Amino acid sequence: MKFYLTTPIYYVNDTPHIGHAYTTIAADVLARYKRSKGFDVFFLTGTDEHGQKVWKAAEAQGKDPQLFVDQIVDRFLSAWDKLSIRYDDFLRTTDRRHKKTVQMIFHRLLGQDDIYKGEYQGMYCVPCETFWTEAELREDMEGRKLCPDCGRPTDLLKEETYYFRLSKYQDRILKHIEANPDFIQPSSRRNEIIQFIKQGLRDLSITRTAFPWGVPVPDDPKHVVYVWFDALINYISALGYLSDDDAQFKKFWPADVHLMGKEIVRFHAVIWPGILLALGLDLPKKVFGHGWWTVEGQKMSKSRGNMVDPIALADEYGVDAVRYFILREVPFGIDGDFSMHAFISRFNADLANDLGNLLSRTLTMVEKYFNSEIPARIASPARSAASAAGWQSDAGGPKPKSEINDDLSKDLVALINETPKSFDDAMDNLAFSDALGAIFKLISQANFYIEKEAPWALAKAGETDKLAAVLYNLCEVLRIVAILVSPTMPQTAQKMWDQLNFALPLEKSAPDPFGMEIAGTKIKKGNSLFPRLNKTDGGSNKK
Ligand code: ME8
Repeated sequence: MKFYLTTPIYYVNDTPHIGHAYTTIAADVLARYKRSKGFDVFFLTGTDEHGQKVWKAAEAQGKDPQLFVDQIVDRFLSAWDKLSIRYDDFLRTTDRRHKKTVQMIFHRLLGQDDIYKGEYQGMYCVPCETFWTEAELREDMEGRKLCPDCGRPTDLLKEETYYFRLSKYQDRILKHIEANPDFIQPSSRRNEIIQFIKQGLRDLSITRTAFPWGVPVPDDPKHVVYVWFDALINYISALGYLSDDDAQFKKFWPADVHLMGKEIVRFHAVIWPGILLALGLDLPKKVFGHGWWTVEGQKMSKSRGNMVDPIALADEYGVDAVRYFILREVPFGIDGDFSMHAFISRFNADLANDLGNLLSRTLTMVEKYFNSEIPARIASPARSAASAAGWQSDAGGPKPKSEINDDLSKDLVALINETPKSFDDAMDNLAFSDALGAIFKLISQANFYIEKEAPWALAKAGETDKLAAVLYNLCEVLRIVAILVSPTMPQTAQKMWDQLNFALPLEKSAPDPFGMEIAGTKIKKGNSLFPRLNKTDGGSNKK
């Protein structure tokens, strides 16, 4: 069983922000989840280092573009390291292996007439070195067409360019989308793409001569390959497509899912399938366009200075809190808003109060009442009247004599057994927020169970059997919770596991049903997982 997933490759004209972290964390969580299910996973991410945008950014700093991208790529590498991203490969489009594949593909498609040389004619802004479409241009009082970017008049310019015959594949792309409802997700994006294709696809200009920063066209190096044509190919060049060593390609292609923001679904669901069809390759199984984050209600932008830095956030509040928040707060696929208020509220409510307290209360009680040893669910035959009531009222056949079987415990055990299934269903639909919601429902139920069963009162009343069963049940909740939160919060899950001190390593543990033989484990209560933050929004917690 293989699973191949990708993130977009990010432009290196920028420092990674919370939007880049969002897609990459989602991919990492999915990759970890699939690995835990026994899949042979290949998780690819990387950087998009060519094109006019990057070239201009390098120029603005007076730097050689290669030197410039070499410096910026480190920011991405260290950000992913910091955020516990475990990718299998990181592809840079300036890698030799990638450039070679792009050139071989270009050569092949030219040879089979899927690429042809032509002329691009349009209104060009010389200072900006950009062609603009009629719809983009502004017009002044004298009817001159002005650049929408700098406002200066544009010139009618003809540029030699190579075209990719996208129009030839229009019908096949449309048919594929219509026949495979899962291909583009969520379905709202699918409808947009269908409408777009139905308006008619034109051949795509795929080379530029106005600037030199890109993969040179074989035998015609005054042209460089258009950055999107170059970038999309990363998904197969990373696997060694057309290289001497294409074992990974044979094993992992087609991709199981390409994850991305909604704004680039069109490139992945129209142009990319066109290229793959021309190459005679299978199409990816799924293209998923998630929503966009705004910050305190505003679009994130450099000029507004409101970019949220995921590293600063992780430094202050912990990596796992960041990973949890961005996947829990907003359903994947829908736009969301980031605010420190929302972040801190969720931190305190879910992580400190619900999860953190459940662990520390339970382990404190195991420590206090059972000398740090997880008690057995079925305790000594000397049962208390309260625990007996549960099964004696039910006349049907013999029962294990001292099993605690009150309604609350039954409900909790049922939920322990249902939760992994609800979690899997949600994860398989990339519904990360629902998947986490299922775990936190169990956590809340367990906290409610503590309030209702009041172990301290059982201890006072000397109801040791029932006390043992209640604490055993709670440790079983913690076992399942640690396993299920581990793809999203790997460090937290490991801390929980270390405190529970189970013999089996966490990564080898599956969420087996209730009733595992954990009794007798000597727990090692440690620090609280998420100390409550004494504030409601930004600023430092450190007093
Ligand atoms: O588009 N909210 O790179 P890019 C959510 N190089 N996600 C966001 C976001 C936000 N506010 N801002 C960015 C490119 N993202 C191309 C991709 S792929 C062959 C080439 C995320 O650096 C989201 O995944 O502009 C989005 O699609 C991506 O960053 C765009 O990154």
